[in-house]
Amino acid sequence: MPSVERFGVSISPELLRAFDARIEQKGYASRSEAIRDVIRNYLVEEQWQDERATVVGTVTLVYDHHTRELDAALTELQHQHHDAIQCATHVHLDPHNCLEVIVVKGASKQVREIGDRLISVRGVKHGKIVCTTTGAGIK
Ligand code: NI
Repeated sequence: MPSVERFGVSISPELLRAFDARIEQKGYASRSEAIRDVIRNYLVEEQWQDERATVVGTVTLVYDHHTRELDAALTELQHQHHDAIQCATHVHLDPHNCLEVIVVKGASKQVREIGDRLISVRGVKHGKIVCTTTGAGIK
């Protein structure tokens, strides 16, 4: 097991009870594991604030492939940013709807801009960017 450090935290009983109740619902085996995840998540979010930091994100899109020009617009955008687009997975959800998950890697500013542009293509019903990082500096 890697070395660990222990630290004490002063916290109101109400806040701790609310935290414990939530992490139990989520299935955490221990409070320590939940706190480690909260800290990692905070650090990842902070890394995304640095526009030059190298990050990776997934852009999830749901759209009706019958919408005119939509497929072509999404493909065109991905080709324009082929240096940052790592891969894309397409699922035909039903006779009309498609789900596309696109992995984008690059400077945080660029990844956000590409994600925003994909999501804002006319006809995209729902879109979301999930931001993570390559994990550099976060164990
Ligand atoms: Ni499809």
